Amino acid sequence: MARPAIAIALPEDERQYVVDVLREAEYEPVVVTCPDDLGALLASRHDVAVAILDGESDFDESLEYYGLLHEPGRDIPALMIVSPRTLDRLAGAAGRAGAHDEYFTRPYSPEALRWRVEAMMIRQMAIDDGSGAVLQNGPLSAGDWSRRGTFLAVFNPKGGVGKTTIAVNLAASLVAMGRTVLLVDADTVTGHIASSLGMSSVRTLVDSLAETREGGPDAAIETLEELVASHPSGLKVLVLSSSPLKTENIDSAAVAEAIDRARRSFDVIVVDLHPDYDTLNRAVFSRADRILVPVTPDVPALRAAVQLRDVAAELGFRDKLALVINRANSGVSVADMERTVGMSSFAEIRSAGLYLVRAANQGRSVIDLFPNEKVSEDFRALAERVVGRPRAKETSRASIRSLFGRKVPARAG
Ligand SMILES: Nc1ncnc2c1ncn2[C@@H]1O[C@H](COP(=O)(O)OP(=O)(O)O)[C@@H](O)[C@H]1O
Ligand SMILES: [Mg+2]
Repeated sequence: MARPAIAIALPEDERQYVVDVLREAEYEPVVVTCPDDLGALLASRHDVAVAILDGESDFDESLEYYGLLHEPGRDIPALMIVSPRTLDRLAGAAGRAGAHDEYFTRPYSPEALRWRVEAMMIRQMAIDDGSGAVLQNGPLSAGDWSRRGTFLAVFNPKGGVGKTTIAVNLAASLVAMGRTVLLVDADTVTGHIASSLGMSSVRTLVDSLAETREGGPDAAIETLEELVASHPSGLKVLVLSSSPLKTENIDSAAVAEAIDRARRSFDVIVVDLHPDYDTLNRAVFSRADRILVPVTPDVPALRAAVQLRDVAAELGFRDKLALVINRANSGVSVADMERTVGMSSFAEIRSAGLYLVRAANQGRSVIDLFPNEKVSEDFRALAERVVGRPRAKETSRASIRSLFGRKVPARAG
């Protein structure tokens, strides 16, 4: 089936990249250079699915475009490209745009824009337009625990936002709460979980697979449980590879399946990922129950989360995403970040640079070394949120939140 047409009303220097990437995605991009162009296009054909508008340069013209898209009997979603500053202002005037319209901030990559368009298409086709609850908030029942562990991935396509920090300390919190936890370092490029926890020469899954191959058909295949290394805290760690050069033979689907099977042996599996959309990560996304998305209060990290949200919508796992606001107490309000990303905050972790460095120097988690620090409380709150707790615990989350907002004075202890 032919893919729909997309009207593009963008400045000349920007237009061609967008046309190219959309054509590659097999849409039919149609450039319009003035409102009359768009009017003629909409009058002559009915398969225009989205219009990409410039929300920045000529406001009156944008309004005219917008009016045409939303004439009576017509409701074509607009994707408005704006600057982050404009987006901020628009967020304040929420509710002005139509239900299906979206914003996208400059600078952007055409590829990211393409994913956003894909996501808009999916929303149009779906009966539920995606404006409902984003998170699966229901706590797991006790019965689920005994049968099947929870599979969590930690991912944001941007590096340095705290994926590894959150994966390690979430896992440590869960261990401290008495859960059996498998922490998987699936960052085959820059992963360093084992060394940061002071565990040297850990056998990796890739090593094991290679030896099995060399040993011929009779070689014993190690189980995942045999491969995992134990940290003194009780945490079990599985490292996929010690070198990015060794991963070419890795069978992503099989690896994800093996991790999935570890649900039978562990209460919780926490998988730390490399920031990319490669096959391994996609296989993990499809098996995970929930994907924690750390973001820091900066534009690149937020933009990466928005992109992930759109990719997730396209690939059908958006309802697994849970936003974790890292360095949450650094001046940008949580509400602003929620609005920018378009997801509500699942948990917040404050800045704790010094404690993190000191813990890493000793090969420990912050939870082990500084259990009484506020940041450890944050990690525990995340852990409780993840495994589900009686409703009463929600109050403590609310109070942590108000502490960040500095509405109530911190209590001693
Ligand atoms: N809440 C925090 N407070 C202070 N520093 C943090 C915090 N979270 C992460 N960091 C630091 O930021 C850097 C990047 O974190 P890391 O977890 O490695 O990110 P990623 O895995 O996303 O690349 C590390 O030096 C880490 O210690
Ligand atoms: Mg990392």
